[in-house]
Amino acid sequence: MNFGSDNVCGVHPAIMDAIMAANSGTQGSYGNDVFTRKAQEQLSEVFECDLEAFLVSNGTAANGLCLAAMVPPYGAVICHGDAHILVDECGSPELMTGGAKLIGSNDPMGKLKLESLERILNGFTRGEHDPKPKAVSVTQATEHGTIYSVNEIAAIADLAHARGMKLHMDGARFANALVSLGCTPAEMTWKSGVDALSFGCTKNGAMMVEAVIFFDRTLAADFSHRRMRAAQLLSKGRYLGAQMNAYLENDLWLDNARHANAMASYLSAALEATGRMRIPLPTQANEVFPIMPRALFELLLSKGVVSYRWPGQGPGNDAAGEGEVFVRFVCSFMTSKTDCDALVREVEAWNGVV
Ligand SMILES: Cc1ncc(COP(=O)(O)O)c(C=O)c1O
Repeated sequence: MNFGSDNVCGVHPAIMDAIMAANSGTQGSYGNDVFTRKAQEQLSEVFECDLEAFLVSNGTAANGLCLAAMVPPYGAVICHGDAHILVDECGSPELMTGGAKLIGSNDPMGKLKLESLERILNGFTRGEHDPKPKAVSVTQATEHGTIYSVNEIAAIADLAHARGMKLHMDGARFANALVSLGCTPAEMTWKSGVDALSFGCTKNGAMMVEAVIFFDRTLAADFSHRRMRAAQLLSKGRYLGAQMNAYLENDLWLDNARHANAMASYLSAALEATGRMRIPLPTQANEVFPIMPRALFELLLSKGVVSYRWPGQGPGNDAAGEGEVFVRFVCSFMTSKTDCDALVREVEAWNGVV
């Protein structure tokens, strides 16, 4: 009953097989291998455009490197206040950009609102005494399991571009958002004005690979140097390429995400039906965010359920009250209905004493 994260699952067998299959003979090093080249072609096909794609080993590196290509050291990145880049990466984006400032909004539901973006931008009135806003970053799916619609992304992109900024998307859960919206990868990115994307794969079945993708190809200038300097150019890059090949082949990435999302919807409905907790955030991707009595949460932990209290108290108008906790359950491509049912049974077995 491990619902702690989508990182707790293993590697999808098809990806493991691809890694094993890549493990014969010699290949060019540092990304000069057939698997990496194929991955670049696949990504162009998937996104239906000419793009620049660079493989890295994890999402934090993808985010920091993307932002470093978009924002100078004296720049600012506007994002949501709970964005992973702001609160979970130990200042890595600041390090990689050489000191840019990250500024977060406090909007509900994990989504940066257009009005907040505008208000923050209008606060930059003091010339060189303020950092220069250079990029907006949105997380899709968000850190609260919610999703920006294509129109919302386009509106943020329009405002960012009108103010001379670029739009970055943290797509650690890109596939989960994509299958939930039912649009194409192109529609959710460059057609809506996204300039650069951290394309996540690890949480959705890979072992360790993500792609930095530039739709605005001018941003890719010197990027290979930037990646090398950040120690993210892997000498045996073929194993990154092989993971990406299998991830994209036969729509494995979409199937995995559909499964994870379906499990989250199933779990969300079943938990709510117990009447023992409420789910104040819509379950739109592969994460469920209930508010429940602390006593119930502690009981679940004692029964071996792995899950974390989530920072904050939940959405403002329906936040956790006295004796309640805000919790996150994450489903992955490996989560089964049996796992979900076992969790729900523990909830139902609670004696209700707080
Ligand atoms: C939204 C988001 N972005 C980026 C990351 C970073 O990924 P990694 O842990 O691979 O560095 C995570 C990981 O939890 C995440 O949830």
